[in-house]
Amino acid sequence: MAFPKPDFSPAVSKLVNDAAHPWKPQAPGDIRGPCPGLNTLASHGWLPRNGIATPDQIVTAVQEGFNMDNSLARFIVYAAFLVDGNVVTNLLSIGQKTSATGQAPPAPAIVGGLNTHAVFEGDTSMTRADFFFGDNHDFNETLFDQFVEFSNKFGGGNYNLTVAGELRFQRISQSIATNPTFSFVAPRYFTAYAESVFPINFFVDGRQNDGQLDMVTARGFFQDMRMPDGFFRANGPQSVAGIDVVAGAHPLLPGSNVNGVNTFTPDPTSANFSTFCLLYSNFVTQTVAGLYPNPTGVLRQALNINLNFLFDSLNGVSPGTCTQVFPFGQD
Ligand code: HEM
Ligand code: MG
Repeated sequence: MAFPKPDFSPAVSKLVNDAAHPWKPQAPGDIRGPCPGLNTLASHGWLPRNGIATPDQIVTAVQEGFNMDNSLARFIVYAAFLVDGNVVTNLLSIGQKTSATGQAPPAPAIVGGLNTHAVFEGDTSMTRADFFFGDNHDFNETLFDQFVEFSNKFGGGNYNLTVAGELRFQRISQSIATNPTFSFVAPRYFTAYAESVFPINFFVDGRQNDGQLDMVTARGFFQDMRMPDGFFRANGPQSVAGIDVVAGAHPLLPGSNVNGVNTFTPDPTSANFSTFCLLYSNFVTQTVAGLYPNPTGVLRQALNINLNFLFDSLNGVSPGTCTQVFPFGQD
């Protein structure tokens, strides 16, 4: 279980839809899921095309393929891996649950891949429906039409930060009004705002680099899991720049519908933007520990290794501010 190296290639814009990484349609059995970024990397062979990968393969692929910042990549990957992956075999499905990740530890562990609802994937996605409506992972044409509509209305035909702020609030408002189980607490509170800026920071060609995503390119990534011909990755490591603009457009505290639709109520126990370390500590002591109430032996060891990787990543995301928590004890 190698610890992924920090930035190992010159982090400049470069051709990533290259001869070694051609787009190919999904072969029978290939798995895809709710993340257009990882789906695209798999369809271009930056990740294994079958959609099953180790965490370090994913860290490497998001850096090489999209120039995602190393600390952010490790933070997202190890968080998702701890709740959706098989920590013993070191494999994660980027979509549905599958036996291809090996024998799973006993319930309540899920090891369900990125499609698993609530532990990482969550409500109010831009191009995927809420879990309550039945399919939380496939591209949804109706929602993409709204993405286009908002890009026309607020971005002159492009998805940009202004559109992101309006569409994020629109999706939240739709979930409040239609999804009785709507939940918008950490970690989803953070990932929803972060994912609103990802199309701007990662899907715009690194030579263009103007924060304006056109609709042909957007559909290519979101629906076809495909980079444009001749696509160059971002010019320099990218993270969540612009997230403050999106969240600031319509400020909202984390919360959920507590008694059916239109009962959105703030939840003071959830982390928010001013309590970042609580995102980490609640995730570890509640979400991860909830899936693994009493791990022993190699399982406990594997969990602790990955919890260390997760904590290490925080030093890049929020240097020196958070205190490590050890739900399974220290070795
Ligand atoms: C959404 C995982 C990297 C772009 C998601 C979701 C998951 C996920 C589970 C579904 C959340 C939801 O909408 O409910 C991951 C993991 C990554 C990663 C584990 C590893 C670093 C990336 C990268 C990009 C990206 C590098 C861009 C190149 C997006 C976007 C969405 C999303 C735009 C929102 C989709 C929507 O709202 O319709 N990701 N992702 N992700 N991801 Fe990723
Ligand atoms: Mg979702």
